[in-house]
Amino acid sequence: MTQETAFLQKSPDAGDEHVPARKVFVKTYGCQMNVYDSDRMSDALSRDGYVATDVLEDADFVLLNTCHIREKAAEKVYSELGRLRELKKAKASEGREMVIGVAGCVAQAEGNEILRRAPAVDLVIGPQTYHRLPEALKRARCGERVVETDYAIEDKFEHLPAPDKAKTRARGVTAFLTVQEGCDKFCTFCVVPYTRGAEVSRPVAQILADAEKLVDGGVREITLLGQNVNAWHGTGPDGRDWGLGDLLRRLGEVDGLARLRYTTSHPRDMDESLIEAHRSMAKLMPYLHLPVQSGSDRILKAMNRRHTTAEYLALVERIRTAQPDLALSGDFIVGFPGETEEDFEDTMRLVEAVGYAQAFSFKYSSRPGTPGADLKDHVPEDVKAKRLERLQTLLVNQQRDFAADCVGREIDLLLEKPGRLPGQLVGRSPWLQPVNVDAKRSQIGDIIKVRITKAGPNSLFAEVIE
Ligand code: 5AD
Ligand code: SF4
Repeated sequence: MTQETAFLQKSPDAGDEHVPARKVFVKTYGCQMNVYDSDRMSDALSRDGYVATDVLEDADFVLLNTCHIREKAAEKVYSELGRLRELKKAKASEGREMVIGVAGCVAQAEGNEILRRAPAVDLVIGPQTYHRLPEALKRARCGERVVETDYAIEDKFEHLPAPDKAKTRARGVTAFLTVQEGCDKFCTFCVVPYTRGAEVSRPVAQILADAEKLVDGGVREITLLGQNVNAWHGTGPDGRDWGLGDLLRRLGEVDGLARLRYTTSHPRDMDESLIEAHRSMAKLMPYLHLPVQSGSDRILKAMNRRHTTAEYLALVERIRTAQPDLALSGDFIVGFPGETEEDFEDTMRLVEAVGYAQAFSFKYSSRPGTPGADLKDHVPEDVKAKRLERLQTLLVNQQRDFAADCVGREIDLLLEKPGRLPGQLVGRSPWLQPVNVDAKRSQIGDIIKVRITKAGPNSLFAEVIE
């Protein structure tokens, strides 16, 4: 939809007259689940006649979908709210309304505190109550300062609209689909069990219905999402208990769906059935995000990760035996309280031993309310910074080596969107690397055979195999 036609879309309570649709600007921080949630919230608002805009100044409703995982992420939200306050004032002086909402994990964790710290905020809504957003927004527009952070008893997924065909088309040929939310693991550094709540799996039928809708809207690749996605479980149509492996096999039968991925996994929940899916399913991409956080058993124990480095390495070995082509990605935290130089060297050794195709690494950030915050021996910031630099150098080198090893390989490439140069498209390799290739726009959504010819710092280049 163009900006202009969007503007002229009829709002449902507009009678026969064409009135300008109200506009919503959504800014998403943090993880892929927030990206998915932002789309679901936009879909819910579109039932009330709202259309999405990329132009902040035009928005009648600005919604920040926030992340609380590290202090920096949460603080970014407050600086953005400071800027929005000025914009809201400027608009008010012209007689134009701008409602400001905060959703996501900062909303859940800080609730009323946000209203106190950021007086321009009209609405705070936590991840478990997104289906109530349209109603909450109506109340906010009537002048109420709304806080919706209860864990709702009703199933939000039953009340949120399923993916819509036209919008799915506009969003592209790859899509996220939440199958599991929340976490019961309680790693001592992590806010997720408190912000996203207890582990909940969506039922098979609901997931299948959403997947079919996405495919109907042109999606070729679905990434199943969950904070602990491999803990997903449900009852299959056959009455058996299903795990993620069974769900993937069933999704593999959906006509038109070419590729499947899932993220994020916990090492404790990689069961044999899921490993078997990697061995036997061509549609399941050979890529696994399997965070380990640290290579020191002492620190893993203090983090409450519930596994040792030896168990992690043995698991990696089993998965690689099942799927030798698998690329691994991971998350690491340096400077967890009590981490010594020797513990950090253990992390470096583990990274050397595994060899990651991609990785995310962070300085430990103490989060209020988590057990880690109460631990003694916090590591000084400058020590954390030095360790992070060393670890990132190693990880970047591994990523570069992995990309270099791809040169010369023939792969299937899913063409996703226009590239930077005219006449080019960008797709994703099975290992999630962006790949540039000469192709026509009409080929978006096709999977073509290409040969990798060159590896750049952040993407690969390929030629089409006739
Ligand atoms: N400090 C630093 N990194 C963290 N992560 C989670 N909590 C913290 C924290 N308090 C990292 C972990 C996790 C990723 C999503 O974010 O590595 O896997
Ligand atoms: Fe956080 Fe650990 Fe749960 Fe992952 S498994 S969301 S790191 S508590």
